[in-house]
Amino acid sequence: IQVEDFDLVIFGATGDLARRKILPGLFRRHAAGQFPQGARIIGAARTDMDDAAFRDDVRAAIAEFDTSRRDSPELPGFLDRLSYVPIDARGEGGWAELRARMRPGVVQAFYFSVAPSLFGDLAERLARHDIAGPDARIVVEKPFGRDLASARALNETLARHFAERQIYRIDHYLGKETVQNLMAVRFANMLFEPLWNAHYIDHVQITVAETVGVAGRGAYYDQSGAMRDMVQNHLMQLVCLIAMEPPFHFDPNAVRDEKLKVIRALEPIPPADIVRGQYGAGGAEAGYLADAENPDSRTESFVALKLRIANWRWQGVPFYLRTGKRLRARTSEIAVVFREPPHSIFDDTGEPQTNQLVIRLQPNEGMNLKVNIKEPGPGGMRLVQVPLDMSFAEALGPDGTDMPDAYERLITDVIRGNQTLFMRGDEVEAAWAWADPVISAWESGSARPEPYDPGTSGPDQALGLMHRDGRRWREIK
Ligand code: BG6
Repeated sequence: IQVEDFDLVIFGATGDLARRKILPGLFRRHAAGQFPQGARIIGAARTDMDDAAFRDDVRAAIAEFDTSRRDSPELPGFLDRLSYVPIDARGEGGWAELRARMRPGVVQAFYFSVAPSLFGDLAERLARHDIAGPDARIVVEKPFGRDLASARALNETLARHFAERQIYRIDHYLGKETVQNLMAVRFANMLFEPLWNAHYIDHVQITVAETVGVAGRGAYYDQSGAMRDMVQNHLMQLVCLIAMEPPFHFDPNAVRDEKLKVIRALEPIPPADIVRGQYGAGGAEAGYLADAENPDSRTESFVALKLRIANWRWQGVPFYLRTGKRLRARTSEIAVVFREPPHSIFDDTGEPQTNQLVIRLQPNEGMNLKVNIKEPGPGGMRLVQVPLDMSFAEALGPDGTDMPDAYERLITDVIRGNQTLFMRGDEVEAAWAWADPVISAWESGSARPEPYDPGTSGPDQALGLMHRDGRRWREIK
């Protein structure tokens, strides 16, 4: 379905995110026929260049980051939509020109793909030069603050010129098909929701493991670390979608209200329930300290923690979270591990195994429900655990393998004016309020993160976090 006619301005249009994700994502939506004839994309950045040079740059970006589409017959039509205005967020040049390019009566969106320190400058100039209308939308990226105080300050800065209904804070995890699917699985089936509570669930494990290190982006990462870079935002969103109460409707504020309640119900984390790690060198590959170009860094590239949600539904059900760089495999999954049946009627059951619902976010997206059946054969009643396995690729054919990138989905939602998959200001602040004490305890202490070897599942202490509760992490593979 086509979106409404729009003018989309991308500030930071020559930057890494724009070239890698935003522009290739827009191109795919264009190629899918989702953009009306008139829709325009206006690049803005400091580089002084003309429309033709910008189009060349975008052509090169698509060739580099979406190789399958570099020769697409749709490309010239997409490039025709593009134009460029040189603008320095802190300068005065270019704004009048930008204003002249905006068409009245169409959806206006402004993507702030720039450092957060420039958000205020952009918002103020858009207002002062009377460029953004009362229904204009602005899109901002993480990092949205580095603690509660800075997130609040950013919210206040944006609120000076834009209403909350105009602000789209991106967490790209919410744009992933498999993450949205969590809501469909929970709320479009009768099968899971009645069991989705402390009576039937033993614990939940969430793993977001990456094989890449931080080489090349050490300057950003070293100021951030896994807690800020991944846990406070992406993993927190996953926790919310698993733990929230059913919203009354799939409506932006109804969904976000329920997520906020989860974050507010999180208990503070005692130091014994959190492990941070930092990868060492391995083989020919440098360790974190070299990648971050900071020999004294105490920044964590890995976090594992045990989370408790203080409400009726989740009383006594720990959520174990872990994420890290340079781990054994790139794999993201959520495992909901059920309790044992209250009583076993079988004598010789072999190794009793509890049911698990594993939702694979990436790669090989799908769902796997582990159930116990009778091991076939004449040898009595022995049980064996087998998977009921669904892979998107197999179940949905080409539609399942060609899933839209998170950014494609999110940008079209901006044009449609649907904020459901964007974080509300209070949600971001609540997540920082939860993360802050942990981070500040690390920063004020002198302890170092636990070292771990690249290609493993992180420091042994992370395994200990589960073992001491008589539980086990699923293997990272
Ligand atoms: C980003 C983080 O937000 O998410 C990166 O800054 C991380 O450090 C990335 O690698 C992971 O995203 P994805 O989509 O590859 O799981």
